[in-house]
Amino acid sequence: MKEIKKSGTSLSDAVELIDLERLSDPRGNLTFIEGGRHIPFDVQRVYYLYDVPAGEARGGHAHHNLQQLIIAVAGSFDVILDNGFERKTVTCNRPFQGILMKSLVWRELNNFSSGAVCLVLASMKYEESDYIRNYEDFISVARKG
Ligand code: TYD
Repeated sequence: MKEIKKSGTSLSDAVELIDLERLSDPRGNLTFIEGGRHIPFDVQRVYYLYDVPAGEARGGHAHHNLQQLIIAVAGSFDVILDNGFERKTVTCNRPFQGILMKSLVWRELNNFSSGAVCLVLASMKYEESDYIRNYEDFISVARKG
């Protein structure tokens, strides 16, 4: 994954890049994820983004409690990560690597390639009240914490 660093407090408390196991096989490769073993939560929900038109962006919010693992299972996209102090962009383009978001982090996804599929494993069921959708609100929560 290519990282573009900008100045500020480290994001590493909130975000971790995870190398998943990859079983290489002439019949095709296989990667697996077990809740509580490869990621620090039991998976309560799975969703995926696909058919994202060129130039479109997703995300643009943070979560109070949700933990997520994001994987580019096909194609590539960029994830902008922001903890209220530091912002960086990570390019996701490998089905055996994931971005683990452990705590409060603003995320934006853009630069989707044709055919990209963004798989997300989530620690909670969908709950709108867990979202922070306004960036100024996020900054005040993040900087308070
Ligand atoms: P949102 O999380 O804002 O999308 P993204 O961050 O990928 O751009 O969700 C978009 C819409 O989909 C919103 O109306 C809520 C709905 N939604 C669900 O109903 N369940 C889900 O698990 C998710 C992720 C979204």
